[in-house]
Amino acid sequence: MSHQTVAILDYGSQYSQLIARRVREARVYCELLPWNVSRERLDALGPVGIILSGGPASVYDENAPTLPDHILERGVPVLGICYGMQLLAHTLGGQVEPSPVREYGPAELTWIAPDSPIFAGLRAPMKVWMSHGDVITALPEGFVCLASTPTTRYAAMGHPERHIYGLQFHPEVAHTPNGVQILENFLYTICGCRGDWTPANFIEETIERIRAQVGDGRAICALSGGVDSTVTAMLIARAIGDRLTCVFVDHGLLRLNEAEQVMQMFKRFLPARVVKVDAQERFLRALRGVTDPEEKRRRIGHEFIRVFEETSRALGPFQFLGQGTLYPDVIESAGPGSTGHGIAAKIKTHHNVGGLPEDLQFELIEPLRYLFKDEVREVGLALGLPAEVVYRQPFPGPGLAVRILGEVTPERLHTLRLADAIVREEIESAGLGRDVWQYFAVLTPLRTVGVMGDYRTYGHVVAVRAVTSEDGMTADWAHLPYEVLARISTRIVNEVPGVNRVVFDITSKPPGTIEWE
Ligand code: XMP
Repeated sequence: MSHQTVAILDYGSQYSQLIARRVREARVYCELLPWNVSRERLDALGPVGIILSGGPASVYDENAPTLPDHILERGVPVLGICYGMQLLAHTLGGQVEPSPVREYGPAELTWIAPDSPIFAGLRAPMKVWMSHGDVITALPEGFVCLASTPTTRYAAMGHPERHIYGLQFHPEVAHTPNGVQILENFLYTICGCRGDWTPANFIEETIERIRAQVGDGRAICALSGGVDSTVTAMLIARAIGDRLTCVFVDHGLLRLNEAEQVMQMFKRFLPARVVKVDAQERFLRALRGVTDPEEKRRRIGHEFIRVFEETSRALGPFQFLGQGTLYPDVIESAGPGSTGHGIAAKIKTHHNVGGLPEDLQFELIEPLRYLFKDEVREVGLALGLPAEVVYRQPFPGPGLAVRILGEVTPERLHTLRLADAIVREEIESAGLGRDVWQYFAVLTPLRTVGVMGDYRTYGHVVAVRAVTSEDGMTADWAHLPYEVLARISTRIVNEVPGVNRVVFDITSKPPGTIEWE
């Protein structure tokens, strides 16, 4: 590829992915690699700089991760953060010791070297975020102190001739307000980065790469209407035109009028053949009598694969399959908390159109494999997708099936669709759509007594769920204005036949999850 690359070696910090995102935000391409990455792999990547992340270990721990010889032998600039800095000091002959006080939280640099390129444009005092148990007590030869706090003498160090730098604090977190400037100083001034990682460059390079991969073959791609699969298909379509066929499976578990709206969007923006498969009956049949959430997910995933296979056989042959896999799903883990591949208990079996099994007889095209979600959105905008598609709220692959507690029937789907449309309309017309991560209705299996006019009712209970979140991993319930909640409640009870009560879910995640099933 023609853009410059920075390598980030992951020593297991909970902030490793955040470093990568900050570097990308500075318009520099980077990859997060395990700390013991091979020399050959780095040779292939040809990084213009290397960042060593923090990590939970102490350099004196038995089996503590080390600094492979070939890293410094490359001669490119290196920035060690926290554990990365201690590792540099330890490896190069300095002294690292347990700190008398474990420092965790805000700290202040009270002295900063006036002319160091890493602190260019910055002066003491400066707020930083510390999180460490060890400190450096003697610098290795050739290094100078670049910053101090009242308790940490060597809060930053550097070897100006060798372009090796170390920071005891975390420049990547928001609690270090000037951290972005420090990282940009490293990238631009010290590594000589040009800032060539832009959506336009990405699109151009990706299209070329897909052309080279596919040759004169044909590709198929499943669409959900979400931003990942749409952007994937747009990139492939730009590369190979009508040799791409897109399949949109309408499983009948979509929101009110969603299938038509999504098809119209594809027609306007996607220069490829889009085939809609009407599989509503099939999915409803597969879900008949099923109430267990995991069983619903399993059956929907299974049915989806069958429908997709049949369709690809009927329209094929295809040699390639486009998938919207994102970077957080492919990063190799270095330790607890560092990536998405930790040892986590299974909470839900996810089904989404990006996740077709690999034993389908296709070669994969995964143009988003190295992108974070916010980068996918930027690429979507650069490809000309409208904001309402790019910032569309996430919608689970199993659709309304996991928002109907108990059996999924056509009647219950109809009830939920009407209630859900009201929730969305009211939140959007109150101008809250961008602030709230997800907002929707859930149909509970409860019935309660009410009174309408002079009559007793015995109707269904709808729950309203609205959450704020950064990434869907954790979430808080959205503190919606009472007037908005009141309008939602009044409208649902008045406009949705059979519903006589509305409740609002005030559970955060954890301990709740965003979806109810
Ligand atoms: P939970 O309910 O686990 O959801 O807090 C976290 C995020 O994931 C979405 N979600 C899914 N997305 N297939 C998907 O593509 C699924 O099976 C699925 N289940 C949940 C959910 O909407 C939220 O954004």
